[in-house]
Amino acid sequence: MTAQLLTIVLAAGKGTRMKSARPKVLHEIAGLSMLGHVLTTASRSGGSASFAVVVGPGMDDVAAEARHIAPDSRIFVQQNQLGTADAVLAARAALAEHTGDVLVLYGDTPLIRPETLTGLSAKLDDGAGIVVLGFEAKDPTGYGRLLVDGEGHLAAIREEKDASATERAVRLCNSGVLAFRCPDLLAMLGSIGNANAKGEYYLTDVVAIGRQRGHRAGVLVCSEEEVLGVNSRDQLATADGIFQARARLSAMTAGATLQAPDTVYFAYDTVLGQDVVVEPYVVFGPGVRVENGVDILAFSHIAGAHIATGARIGPYARIRPGSRIARDAHVGNFVELKATIMEEGAKANHLAYVGDSTIGQNANIGAGTIFCNYDGFFKHRTEIGPGAFVGSNSAIVAPVRVGAGAYIASGSVVTEDVPADALAIERAELKFKLGWAERFRSKMRALKAKSK
Ligand code: UD1
Ligand code: MG
Repeated sequence: MTAQLLTIVLAAGKGTRMKSARPKVLHEIAGLSMLGHVLTTASRSGGSASFAVVVGPGMDDVAAEARHIAPDSRIFVQQNQLGTADAVLAARAALAEHTGDVLVLYGDTPLIRPETLTGLSAKLDDGAGIVVLGFEAKDPTGYGRLLVDGEGHLAAIREEKDASATERAVRLCNSGVLAFRCPDLLAMLGSIGNANAKGEYYLTDVVAIGRQRGHRAGVLVCSEEEVLGVNSRDQLATADGIFQARARLSAMTAGATLQAPDTVYFAYDTVLGQDVVVEPYVVFGPGVRVENGVDILAFSHIAGAHIATGARIGPYARIRPGSRIARDAHVGNFVELKATIMEEGAKANHLAYVGDSTIGQNANIGAGTIFCNYDGFFKHRTEIGPGAFVGSNSAIVAPVRVGAGAYIASGSVVTEDVPADALAIERAELKFKLGWAERFRSKMRALKAKSK
């Protein structure tokens, strides 16, 4: 049985290399902050009962994000960045109250998987007091090296600047993720000094100290990719790319067809059902759930929407948050939907803005229809009844209700509710001036001849 887990997330770093007004851990991957990824993964791995997030002075937005993702997070401020051990000790109050396992994660290492965290717990269950998540680095420069003793146990972690030439040749590196099952952890952390090349309190010293105190230390090895730390925009893009590759693969594994996977951008929470077909160049923003058997045609942009079986979206559809597309509904070329419910079989196939509305079952929104939902101060809703037909190039000035089965004549500006089964027509009467065109042409021809 896994003991109760306290997860400490280190996020006090300013991230100067991001060249940003925003704290590093709030930069997003697939629409979720890096901190959000870390907290979500830790929550998903099953064990984490409580979170302590260590932030720098004045990082209220980081604290707010932590509470948003994991509402019970406790926030600790590390006043000066004196090293990773000092950062963990900023959460001393949480550690002092806690009797179970402790996991340390970095807020800027967002790709770690729940399975890996479960693997760390399993090693604790096997009797290790300390488990370090390690990886074989292609280029170990800058990382702490994992020094393994003759019995294959972890003896110490040596930081690059303090390492001998032989130690530097080691490619097994510290990811920064550590797990502990040591009742004396606080005492161990308290005994870490800063007599080293950087003059910092190294959390990594806890391994050698733990060994002296009789704890067994182990290593769990994962891929370098999984523990990629983000320090720059360039690494942020790399991490996003890795996330995307994973998301595409898992969508395809779950039975979706991605015709050109590399061109489809997923959000952190996109869910695609079986037999969903996604054409090239589709972007999913946060909050999209697509049921089985939906076609999403090229160049569509979808966020905050639930799309039911049999629906057809795009090409070039824009679906904005708060939208629900019921079975067999169509949202076609250059149609923008915002906070709109399309009931079963409803269609908006061409060139329309459909905002703050409900489109009834089998209703049809003609090409060029605009829902005028905003009066400069407030947003208003439109309700189109089942089976209604909105003719092309109409303007529906909300708030408006169009009754079931009603027709709106093309080009009408509708400012009042339309009774069911009525025809609403709002345009100048169509007149004919017979023979006018020929009279006009002969007059103009004569004028042109004279001007030569
Ligand atoms: C650390 C590890 C190193 C490991 C590497 C992996 C130590 C001493 N070294 O080195 O073994 O290979 O990470 O990337 O732990 N932080 C704080 N407060 C501080 C210092 C750091 O919150 O006072 C946070 C940073 O924001 C960052 C993380 O801790 O998210 C790691 O700190 P960093 O300075 O990048 O450590 P490294 O020297 O890279
Ligand atoms: Mg680092």
